Amino acid sequence: MSDSHILVERPQVRPGVMVIRFNRPEKKNAITSAMYNRMTAALEEANGDETVRAVAFLGTEGCFSAGNDMGDFLTYALSGSKEAPAAAVFIKALALAEKPLVSGVDGLAIGIGTTLNLHCDMTVASGRSLFRTPFVDLALVPEAASSLLAPKIMGHQRAFAMLVAGEGFSAQAALDAGLVWKIVEPETVEAETLSLAASLAARPPQALRIARDLVRGSRDEVLARIDEELVHFSAQLKSAEARAAFEAFMRR
Ligand code: COA
Repeated sequence: MSDSHILVERPQVRPGVMVIRFNRPEKKNAITSAMYNRMTAALEEANGDETVRAVAFLGTEGCFSAGNDMGDFLTYALSGSKEAPAAAVFIKALALAEKPLVSGVDGLAIGIGTTLNLHCDMTVASGRSLFRTPFVDLALVPEAASSLLAPKIMGHQRAFAMLVAGEGFSAQAALDAGLVWKIVEPETVEAETLSLAASLAARPPQALRIARDLVRGSRDEVLARIDEELVHFSAQLKSAEARAAFEAFMRR
């Protein structure tokens, strides 16, 4: 990975905010193992650093993330590796993040580009955003505890439409479903997201942490679901039907 594919920034004008930015626009911010590892390290750093009081995920203009890198999926599928994919390690770090998480989505949010937001406390999106999880089309299954969190947030019908039927959700549909907190103009996504993160960072940290934990509830169920999904996800990743789907994408 180029070190610049994930940018971890501490903007001086936003004290207390750590920004984790997808910065691989030429590949629609598709996420490789190295990028997951960098994000995991950043989240762990945020946990251990009391000067970080909020974390903001951002993408690039018109694109949050096209999800897991398909080439990486294929490499993992062919490798026969028994190790947990870097994505799974990142997802657990996300579920265990101790600081408030916000995200700013402008444009495409596919796969984990969508499910990451289920772990965020507040998501700002532009009206041109599209949320989609084509797991089953790729012969995969929902990940990131989305099979638990999405029905809780959106109800069964919408969660099924998104996670199983692969239906895309416009920004408005995502707002109506409770996946997004606020829709703003594309050019203000970043400023609004950072201002939101800064306002959380300015609040009394101990009270904020307790309040956040109370609102989120136990993490045990989330972690258990991540593991349960992972068993199926890893098996499906190595299936002939998934390999065929990844190869078809790579051949396009
Ligand atoms: N993994 C690897 N590369 C990806 C990618 C992904 N998930 N998504 C996009 N890219 C790459 C494309 O291969 C292309 O690379 P190239 O220019 O070297 O050929 C580049 O990003 C631009 O993508 P392109 O498909 O030309 O843009 P588009 O605007 O026509 O379509 C998407 C964008 C996101 C709709 C389409 O790329 C797509 O469906 N990607 C796969 C999304 C996905 O299924 N992710 C996994 C979910 S679990």
